[in-house]
Amino acid sequence: MPATREKIVFYLNHDRVEITCEDAFLTLSTWLRVKKAMTGTKVVCSEGDCGACTVILGWMNPVGKLEYRIVDSCIQFLFQLDSCHVITVEALTENGKLHPAQQAMVECFGSQCGFCTPGFVMALADLAEKEQSHTTTSIKDKLAGNLCRCTGYEAIVKAGLALNAAQQVKISERFDRKAMEAEFAKTAGQSLKIETASGQIFFKPADLGEALKLRAAMPQLRLVAGATDLGVQHNKGRSVVTHAMFIAHLGEIGDVQKRGDLLEIGATVNWSEVLAATEADLPELHAILKVFAAEQIRNAATIGGNIINASPIADSLPCLFALDARLVLRSVSGSREVAINGFYSGYKKFDLRADEILAKIILPLPKTNSLFKLYKVSKRRDLDISTVTLAIHLQMAGAKIAGAQLAAGGVAATILRLANTEKLLIGAELSAELFHKAGDMAMSEIQPQSDVRGSADFRKILIRNLFHKFYFETSQAVGAKAG
Ligand SMILES: Cc1cc2nc3c(=O)[nH]c(=O)nc-3n(C[C@H](O)[C@H](O)[C@H](O)COP(=O)(O)OP(=O)(O)OC[C@H]3O[C@@H](n4cnc5c(N)ncnc54)[C@H](O)[C@@H]3O)c2cc1C
Ligand code: FES
Ligand code: FES
Repeated sequence: MPATREKIVFYLNHDRVEITCEDAFLTLSTWLRVKKAMTGTKVVCSEGDCGACTVILGWMNPVGKLEYRIVDSCIQFLFQLDSCHVITVEALTENGKLHPAQQAMVECFGSQCGFCTPGFVMALADLAEKEQSHTTTSIKDKLAGNLCRCTGYEAIVKAGLALNAAQQVKISERFDRKAMEAEFAKTAGQSLKIETASGQIFFKPADLGEALKLRAAMPQLRLVAGATDLGVQHNKGRSVVTHAMFIAHLGEIGDVQKRGDLLEIGATVNWSEVLAATEADLPELHAILKVFAAEQIRNAATIGGNIINASPIADSLPCLFALDARLVLRSVSGSREVAINGFYSGYKKFDLRADEILAKIILPLPKTNSLFKLYKVSKRRDLDISTVTLAIHLQMAGAKIAGAQLAAGGVAATILRLANTEKLLIGAELSAELFHKAGDMAMSEIQPQSDVRGSADFRKILIRNLFHKFYFETSQAVGAKAG
């Protein structure tokens, strides 16, 4: 059995870094700015909302190659970076020459106070790595996770359009990737443990088997996948992470497979990967995921983290409820499968034992006779938390509704199945009148609270109106089917 390593190894631009101490529990942005005096990476919000801290991160993919994506460094712990390559804004200039993204920002007046600029430049540089030509839409999509308080976005989008990536060698090609990949491949099967003088403990298990053993032996270890929820709680002092087991690298629970009419999604699959995997087979979820946070977050955040974080406004949950997803929970004593519809029993209360890890989500795809729609209502389109969410899944027999699964979020302590409204719909023919009644009944079934995102009454009206919207959007399709 390979020995346990006692140091985190990653590359920061051209330099090899070893971490053996408390620094492992710092966020990447803090470590860069405080310990390395690399202040090009800025911090504004510390909660993944503004993108000022954006870096490009190379991860090892399943075939042993580094793949580069943007992430927010303020919610990445250093311990997540083992076997990674971090590229910061300091590495963009080459031989004294600005990177085309920097040059375009200068020429288009895309910067005023400059605080947000490194984050924008990193996102634009990543865009240039991946696409030769850019449209206003692709630039806006890419920059959804970056906020600017002074310049406004017009000049920055112009910079994106003016960006000529062909002018410079790709960033990812400026580094000795082969050497990094060869080193990381050697350590891939090793476990890693850091125990600090002040009592912090970190484990990176070699495989799922070891992760389950550690989970059983040390239930106090926090499981950390993307850290987009935990990182925010840590930074805000709500729940400081001192005992952690990293799981996002575990290949056994990290892929998406289509088996017949089921999509099986590993718990550590991140949202960018789910976005790609659902485009053809589940376009409704794909569309919702386009407005799930922003790219920096989607590149790190996992589906398992979303389920276990158990927010009643988690964007994935109404879909999983309405499609009757099943969760595979693993422990040293075996595996059990539970229906997501019975998993939650109250606010942040769910049926996961202290020795278990969520391993997989089994998601039945809608059948051809189904009408399936997902809705997310938020104050802004991009990078915003939902006010309410709704999933409507109907199985049709001609114009008649043979089955109905309705799940609403942001209206109670957990996602709520609208049981009475389902009963009303089953057996009825689709009509405007029916969906007016359904909207009214749904209003009577929910118990929303008032908060900054909307009053209880507003939420009730939103849910009712979404039923009207659903009828408006689908009645033509059903008319065609029924005819
Ligand atoms: C700026 C910002 C925007 C966001 N926008 C959205 C949004 O639009 N919609 C939305 O729904 N959410 C949003 N989120 C919340 C967050 O990104 C998601 O909930 C995400 O999916 C969490 O995944 P993670 O891997 O980062 O979880 P982590 O933070 O790593 O973990 C979250 C919790 O799950 C536990 N956990 C993780 N994986 C497992 C597992 N396999 N088994 C058991 N326990 C596990 C952890 O111990 C922890 O308790 C946003 C967050 C931020 C910071
Ligand atoms: S500082 Fe705002 S996203 Fe990191
Ligand atoms: S230039 Fe000041 S915040 Fe963007």
